[in-house]
Amino acid sequence: MKKKLVSLLVVSAMTLSMLVGCGNSAAETATEVAETATEVAETATEVAETVAETAGNADLADKKVGVCIYQFADNFMTLFRTELENYLISQGFAKDNITIVDGANDQATQTNQIQNFITQGVDVLIINPVNSSSAATITDLVVGANIPLVYINREPDADEEARWESNGWNVTYVGCDARQSGTMQGEILVDLGQDKIDLNGDGKIQYIMIEGDPENVDAQYRTEFSVKALEDAGWAVEELDDQVGNWDQATAQQLVANSLSAHPETEVVFCNNDAMALGALQSIEAAGRKVGEDIYLVGVDALTEALEDVLAGTMTGTVFNDHIAQSHGAADAAINYITGAGNEYYIGCDYVKVTTDNAQSVLDSLK
Ligand code: BGC
Ligand code: CA
Repeated sequence: MKKKLVSLLVVSAMTLSMLVGCGNSAAETATEVAETATEVAETATEVAETVAETAGNADLADKKVGVCIYQFADNFMTLFRTELENYLISQGFAKDNITIVDGANDQATQTNQIQNFITQGVDVLIINPVNSSSAATITDLVVGANIPLVYINREPDADEEARWESNGWNVTYVGCDARQSGTMQGEILVDLGQDKIDLNGDGKIQYIMIEGDPENVDAQYRTEFSVKALEDAGWAVEELDDQVGNWDQATAQQLVANSLSAHPETEVVFCNNDAMALGALQSIEAAGRKVGEDIYLVGVDALTEALEDVLAGTMTGTVFNDHIAQSHGAADAAINYITGAGNEYYIGCDYVKVTTDNAQSVLDSLK
């Protein structure tokens, strides 16, 4: 690339000297000389940019990134970490310098992994905490070792975030606001109209809620704001059951099977994520029920399988949890710490409501 640009520069300079020497009118020659000079200048700028880019990438190639994921056996975090690794490589990190570890849903295991990364002297840490409530301890460990820290997916609480800013620490959070995803789940139903959702016509929406890990704000906010969106639309609601499925498909399948046999009057199944909605769907079908006809089902994430269900009508809707924007945002934040550019203390992104109308385009965008 660099060689090609340099030879272009040489050719342009030669053209310039030939033009000055040949028999065109003075005005024509002057114009051509000016044009060629502009081209030479543009080519020189390109050369300079390529040199700068190469130098930037060379800087990252020997930087070490440690990534802690709360649990590898999580569908959404698997999409996230795969995209994160690929994007880090595309930005100039060497694959061998990116280490991603599985916290196996155990904070003690993850804390050990963080200590190991500190001992190895990584240049930056990207952490998806097992327990958000352990964030203060994690931050103290990492900041104490003078390593910049990017939290992802599980947002530490407001007090913890305020501490980063007041101390001017190199710590940030990259993620979406879970309230928005809950609101969108509720709106998907509101958009369909109360007459449709209130299947037994008693003026109330009978629902069951399947929650993710309740320690996680994503679970807390989605549980609260999905129902709030119905109430804000003036709908009356009746909670028939609220169970913890820990983000897991098989757990949710079992819970929904039990709930549906105890509460056949269920009109809506809210799941805090798609993995659990897929489990719920298995039990809905096993109970001989049909989504869109005698029950409604919403999730969050826009996993490929869930998008296919939305298109097939076997899921009412989901909410796209943009793992691409979030993983790129996290990598960019890590790079900004390494280069000294620094970051804001909160880096947000938007969820997207997904129904039959746009499920295909979301699916296409993920291919
Ligand atoms: C996702 C879940 C995932 C959880 C992990 C949430 O934002 O929606 O699918 O299990 O993050 O923390
Ligand atoms: Ca009803």
